Amino acid sequence: MTDKKPKLVVSTGAGISAESGISTFRDAGGLWEQYPVMDVASADGFERNPALVHRFYNERRVALGNARPNRAHEILHELEKYFDVYVITQNVDDLHERAGSTRVLHLHGELMKMRAVDDPGFIRPLEGYDATTSPDTVVEGHHMRPHIVFFQEAVPMFEPATELAAQADIFVIIGTSLAVYPAAALVRYVRPGVPVYYIDPHPDNAPAGVTVIKATATEGMAELERILLKR
Ligand code: OAD
Repeated sequence: MTDKKPKLVVSTGAGISAESGISTFRDAGGLWEQYPVMDVASADGFERNPALVHRFYNERRVALGNARPNRAHEILHELEKYFDVYVITQNVDDLHERAGSTRVLHLHGELMKMRAVDDPGFIRPLEGYDATTSPDTVVEGHHMRPHIVFFQEAVPMFEPATELAAQADIFVIIGTSLAVYPAAALVRYVRPGVPVYYIDPHPDNAPAGVTVIKATATEGMAELERILLKR
């Protein structure tokens, strides 16, 4: 008999942090209604008006400092007792880490880091939620920018994420509109026959063959925990 834990791979989006008070992007009242996405989150927008982009992410960081992980983040951490849990998140917040999750892959970057404009490998942490960056932020001779994957840019962590998805024994999607590629395509790498669950109150783009739990992240995770622990 082997005591190897099953591999639970979880793909999260903005919806898992909604109950922590972090705005989603595409819901009514979401961030992309308040800010033109191509101004604050695209490579062109950054070239046109870098100060605006820095300010937008400085504001997001302050909001993150006022937020706390919610029960959905906590359950994902607690499931590490029974499963090898790997979180692949589109979120740039640090709520999974603050809830205790030990394996978190950020597809779209991280708010608490900055990186060199001229060298994607030159990444530095930001100390504190009130830390700011601006077009004048220079570290060791490099102009710095938010460590965010802008629209029109490659997603370097996608390949490692596909490898995790392909190894999943159970795959879970939580709180994402599945509107943004390549992240939305991760489920295609899951092996046939592997159970896939999708927790979202508006699961409009549910992929074929998945078990939909139409609920908020905290309610849906409580239900999924019951299902998984019964297995
Ligand atoms: P979206 O704003 O597109 O979708 C949020 C999803 O969360 C929707 O499906 C909602 O129904 C769901 N939702 C809302 N409240 C919820 C709750 N309490 N519990 C669970 N789900 C809830 O956000 P993402 O799909 O994460 O990228 O967006 C993907 C990417 O688009 C983001 O990473 C960001 C954005 O542009 C970048 O900025 C690079």
